[in-house]
Amino acid sequence: MKNFAFILKKNKNSKQPSTFIPLYPLEPFNPATSALLINPPKYDIIISKHIALPIDHHSDYDILLLPGDLSYADLNQPSWDSYARLVEPLASSRPWMVTEGNHEIETIPLIESTPFKPYNTRYHMPYEESASPSNLFYSFDTADSAVHVLMLGSYTDFDASSDQFKWLQADLTKLDRSKTKWLFALIHAPWYNSNKAHQGDGEDMRKAMEETLYAARVDAVFAGHVHAYERFASVYNSKKDQCGPLHITIGDGGNREGLANKYIDPQPSISLFREASFGHGQLQVANGTHALWSWHRNDDDEAVVVDSVWIISLLSNPACQKKN
Ligand SMILES: [Fe+2]
Repeated sequence: MKNFAFILKKNKNSKQPSTFIPLYPLEPFNPATSALLINPPKYDIIISKHIALPIDHHSDYDILLLPGDLSYADLNQPSWDSYARLVEPLASSRPWMVTEGNHEIETIPLIESTPFKPYNTRYHMPYEESASPSNLFYSFDTADSAVHVLMLGSYTDFDASSDQFKWLQADLTKLDRSKTKWLFALIHAPWYNSNKAHQGDGEDMRKAMEETLYAARVDAVFAGHVHAYERFASVYNSKKDQCGPLHITIGDGGNREGLANKYIDPQPSISLFREASFGHGQLQVANGTHALWSWHRNDDDEAVVVDSVWIISLLSNPACQKKN
């Protein structure tokens, strides 16, 4: 991160669930970091209660990660400005790392054929630093390179011949896993989704890239797009797999379209928790082997955890240390 100077700190408010049993020795890990994942507040809910809580309470996090659909401007350019004013208290004081959603495309038939012009202009992410040819996909390190985050693009080419795919392969090859204990990825359209909304939207990308993320032992994949929250088991190729990433849809930051509250029934066995409420997530990396994910409804107090899980790094799981 060349453009930010920040101190990584451990969130002191973290409380381990009573059911937590360490499976692996907790290694010293300093500095630790906590990162907040919050799907972006949308222009039309600036005055709503759904964004009031995150803005008021989320001042003590190190990094904010947003998996796309930012301002919902959809060609109404002043919305980009009002959105920026809304998030300025957060975005001006810590890294505000975004990847693009479908509402950032902003093309106009016969008039504007180049997608993502406002997004690329307003949100210049550090893609050059990660040797990416495009602002639409990049990566970055944090916590002294113990955490590597892949910010992938759901709305640019991702097949095996694409620039994004080639960059991803090269980026993963460069990792020193003796230093990089954690690998996370953000996408926009979820690869796993039991909500009736946006069924299959991420399927082509999943088919193209899932094997690569699996082989690299990506620990968790966070997605947006679906206006609800859902947490899956560790999954690979649509089946539970202890060496696959956890998949989490955190698309419930708020939007003008409302919540996506219709689910496929019965709930698939790989889907462990799902709820259509506005909310946000928090990822606290405790050390080199353990990270705590929690989901908070925006209607509740920040301290109220509705869903949480300790994530054990795949690198520390002996069964996952060799590529399958
Ligand atoms: Fe979307």
